[in-house]
Amino acid sequence: MIELRNVDVTFQDGKQTVKAVRDVSLKVEKGDIYGIVGYSGAGKSTLVRTINLLQRPTSGSVIVGAQELSALPAKSLRTARKKIGMIFQYFNLMRARTVAGNIAYPLRKSGLSKKEINDKVDDLLELVGLVDKKHTYPSQLSGGQKQRVAIARALANDPEVLLCDEATSALDPKTTSSILELLKRLNKKLSLTIVIITHEMQVVKEICNKVAVMDDGEVVEQGDLVSLFTSPKEALTHEFIDTATHLDQALEKLRKHPTLLDLSVDDVLANITYVGVSTGTPLIASLYAQFGVTTNILYGNVEILQQTPVGNLIVVFSGEKRQREKAVSYLESNNIVVNQIQNTQTIVPIKQEKIS
Ligand SMILES: Nc1ncnc2c1ncn2[C@@H]1O[C@H](COP(=O)(O)OP(=O)(O)OP(=O)(O)O)[C@@H](O)[C@H]1O
Ligand SMILES: [Mg+2]
Repeated sequence: MIELRNVDVTFQDGKQTVKAVRDVSLKVEKGDIYGIVGYSGAGKSTLVRTINLLQRPTSGSVIVGAQELSALPAKSLRTARKKIGMIFQYFNLMRARTVAGNIAYPLRKSGLSKKEINDKVDDLLELVGLVDKKHTYPSQLSGGQKQRVAIARALANDPEVLLCDEATSALDPKTTSSILELLKRLNKKLSLTIVIITHEMQVVKEICNKVAVMDDGEVVEQGDLVSLFTSPKEALTHEFIDTATHLDQALEKLRKHPTLLDLSVDDVLANITYVGVSTGTPLIASLYAQFGVTTNILYGNVEILQQTPVGNLIVVFSGEKRQREKAVSYLESNNIVVNQIQNTQTIVPIKQEKIS
């Protein structure tokens, strides 16, 4: 559906050269909700703007549907762009137009009659749940309602793709959830392919089926949501996930209150990740009977990712070294990821670090 091939974007800012996007290749399939996550300045907006060619790549190609947008002449590009809607953090509504006027704006040169446009606007209002706000002005709407208007406007030309640049970053958590629910519904109902860029893994976690992590212009890791959450490779990905699962806060608490730990030589602090509710806790409970290893759970969290439960625990394993090693091997052979936490700072695979 969308393919970026070796996309580079370089800005010339006076004497300074800024490489905002470096050699990014990725594929978004039809019906995906694809998340691109990264800190401020990572190049997310620049990258997403190459998808509708609001930003022309310095090199590389952009393919949407069957068309290579980066090779199209201006007129065909204008037509192709109509199939790509976009929404933004601050909604970008026109203050002097009503809700209906904003939604109808992209249809002004569509050749549709006044009545047809009016009907289309009514359908879109129904779709985003704002029927009663048709004649209201943007200044009279809440942030969430404004974003709904922006979504309706972005859908006016029946796009196949919706690009969302930090679409929920200006909203409170409850409103964010309701907008994400709406996007999920539109994805299903209209088979709309959605690309979401955000600095919050929380957002990605709620609705995306695939994720790319960006750092300094590069995509450092990409994959399907559940694999990325259960076995992240890059430190940056770990960081985003730990924030989304609140593991970072749990570690911070342990750091501030080391008495909670009070580890002896036979104790080891670890982070456990597993898929499926039925697997994790029963296996952990069996460690004592099998190996004489006790497991003290200090923190636990279960996320539902794409209908799949993913558990994350911080535990202390206590027992004789060899028995602990056996217990860890046993968990790992049952597809549970076990990582040692050192000084409550770094999380490392337990096999790489000898348990002392
Ligand atoms: N038009 C431009 N001219 C020069 N440099 C630019 C331009 N647009 C973006 N940049 C630079 O490119 C880099 C990436 O910017 P971009 O806006 O894509 O990041 P971002 O990941 O969207 O950040 P944020 O989360 O803050 O929105 C930054 O260093 C930025 O300063
Ligand atoms: Mg941005």
